[in-house]
Amino acid sequence: MQSLDAFAQDKLDELERRHLRRALADTMREDGIWVERDGRRLLSFSCNDYLNLTQHPAVKQAAIAAIETYGAGAGASRLVTGNHPLFAQLEARLARINQTDGAVVFGSGYLANAGIIPVLIGRDGLVLADELSHACLFAGAQLSKGVLVTFRHNDVGHARELLYQHRAAHERALIVTDGVFSMDGDLAPLADLLALAAEYDVWLMSDDAHGLGVVGGGRGSSYVDNAYIPVPLQMGTLSKAVGAYGGYLCASAPVIELIRNRARTLIYSTGLPPSCVAASIAALDLIEREPGYAALPLQKAKAFTRAAGLPEAQSPIVPVVIGEEQATLAASRLLADEGFLAAPIRPPTVAAGSARLRLTFTAQHPDDAIARLATIVRDRILRP
Ligand SMILES: Cc1ncc(COP(=O)(O)O)c(C=O)c1O
Repeated sequence: MQSLDAFAQDKLDELERRHLRRALADTMREDGIWVERDGRRLLSFSCNDYLNLTQHPAVKQAAIAAIETYGAGAGASRLVTGNHPLFAQLEARLARINQTDGAVVFGSGYLANAGIIPVLIGRDGLVLADELSHACLFAGAQLSKGVLVTFRHNDVGHARELLYQHRAAHERALIVTDGVFSMDGDLAPLADLLALAAEYDVWLMSDDAHGLGVVGGGRGSSYVDNAYIPVPLQMGTLSKAVGAYGGYLCASAPVIELIRNRARTLIYSTGLPPSCVAASIAALDLIEREPGYAALPLQKAKAFTRAAGLPEAQSPIVPVVIGEEQATLAASRLLADEGFLAAPIRPPTVAAGSARLRLTFTAQHPDDAIARLATIVRDRILRP
């Protein structure tokens, strides 16, 4: 065997031994909640399509119309000829929702985080990250070549201690955190982090991938308890509740202009297809028009946590932490036998010993199915 193949096979064997090998499963998402997989029709609690907008007629129609008008792809980087007119509409809409002067749309959320952080932080800078921040915030921090320090999850006191120790040694510093944590579903203490950032002259960046559309009346994690938290760097994605694809940053006019000029993942990557941009605009129309609908995923998640005897959900994401990988795989299989899709989440996506089912609730999940899922999780998975 060639050394390259032998290397790959060794790595795969090791993953297999540790129950960490993953496989792509063909999944036919027939509507916002039902999927077909391995010949079975399952009710999915594993999609981030919180508002089921991937399948909404108005959203699909907007994408189709954009293809007819502008074509299937952007054809080039936005900085060259890929900047079709829909971008400006979408960016104005995002800036309005997030109450910032401007916005810039990237090819994906991952590309956004990988591009934004290195523009703001260089070798002499400091990135202070919540330890449970999404992988792409860490990727952006690593690409910046600055010093990366992590603080304990949602522990503002620990973040303060670290700033006290490290801040003076760096010209610029940035705190990064998920707004809604992708694997735990809890919210970041953004107001407290913002106050801390002001105290130490540090910038704050939130990743609202799982907030836009579903918390804060649909406007995201910068809006809690009917108050707006003016986070200066609000990043997010169009691929979860918005039901399309793409990433963005909302910020002040000079910051947005700088990012457009310097973010390598924007400059050296093709612009989003017009269909994604048009679908996002149509989806944001619906989200802004129907806050009652946007509130449904969280209501459903809370109904589940009440019935399952779990801590109250803060977002549509509910972790059912099992611990061991094998037991988590078994729990996922048990639920599939009961007609539910609940994908197992294992390290390195989550910390060793905290493998889990990550359940996501959407606007259209039927209440009786949620109640049945809760009974099975409570009686056969958490207390077998
Ligand atoms: C918190 C968080 N940030 C960023 C991303 C990446 O976004 P995208 O899927 O648009 O690349 C994700 C999704 O996977 C996420 O959960």
